[in-house]
Amino acid sequence: MVVSMNKQQYLEKTLGEKQFSPQKDSVKAFAPSNIALCKYWGKDNEELNIPVTGSLSISLTGMGTETALSIIDAKHDAIFLNQTQIDNNNSFAKRVIAFINLFRGDQQWRCRIDTKSDIPIAAGLASSASGFAALTLSLQQLFNWQHDLSTLSRVARLGSGSAARSLWNGFVLMQLKEDDAFATPINKKWPELRIGLLIAEEEQKPISSREAMQVTMNTSPFYKTWPDIVERDLTTIEEAIAQKDFILLGKTAEQNALAMHATMLTAQPSICYWKTSTIENMHKVWALRDQGHHIYFTEDAGPNLKLIFLAEDEEKVLAHWPVCQIIQPFTLPLQAVVNK
Ligand code: PMV
Repeated sequence: MVVSMNKQQYLEKTLGEKQFSPQKDSVKAFAPSNIALCKYWGKDNEELNIPVTGSLSISLTGMGTETALSIIDAKHDAIFLNQTQIDNNNSFAKRVIAFINLFRGDQQWRCRIDTKSDIPIAAGLASSASGFAALTLSLQQLFNWQHDLSTLSRVARLGSGSAARSLWNGFVLMQLKEDDAFATPINKKWPELRIGLLIAEEEQKPISSREAMQVTMNTSPFYKTWPDIVERDLTTIEEAIAQKDFILLGKTAEQNALAMHATMLTAQPSICYWKTSTIENMHKVWALRDQGHHIYFTEDAGPNLKLIFLAEDEEKVLAHWPVCQIIQPFTLPLQAVVNK
């Protein structure tokens, strides 16, 4: 049973190998960031990052993380973030090195990892999702694996739960199956759909999602309602996508995000990622809806809202939020992630 395994045992079971030896000197991969329309919040298994529920996301096609990995002749790994070397004791570097260690066993190779991300790190814009997905795709090349993307999704999940969904463009469903969890793409295009990034705050989040989930699960009286809410919302969002029912999609995604934040706000101590700008923007969205514009929002573990709307409301969105960065998620083929 997966439940009692540690990460190494899980990798051996999932990839069918124990030892991984680099087959190339340098590799590079890109993965898109993703935004959950039905959120993942809480782990059933901390060691293996197995979530309590499934989740469903949309990838920010073309926006994400590029990771270059090269083998170096050195005593320590060298971690670069957006072209600046960071201390190996920095929390980001530690997570990356811990992930690489899972594949190194007792081998002595060291590497340089260059992560370039066009999204603010740790501002609740799923930078860890694209980061660990890109790193996993780099490892596929480094070790010359031929694993399919759902297998790689299980590997990426060990780095960050949401990374499991960052291996495809378009809508992606994360499912729980027999004590395991992995994502698969949803084969449905919705070219008119738009995601707007409202980046009002760029500072690092005060509490990591990992820690926040734990506190919420352990202390919020509302958390026990969460799995049922997700089960209901997942079905509704899948239906909304199948029928291209935008109002149903937007409404359900917004309520799902607010329900997740309600579990956090009622945790002890309370976890509130909201800033003044977050609430101001929520009211702006609701006022525009009262005027008949179908604009919705979602919010992750950070203060920045992501708007969900259709192409017909693009001008309205830009008139109200001139700095809004608009993503067209369906400009690239669905199945062609990302490089193999
Ligand atoms: O994968 P993590 O540990 O960064 O957690 C992601 C949590 C949310 O972004 C809030 C929700 C989600 O499903 O992406």
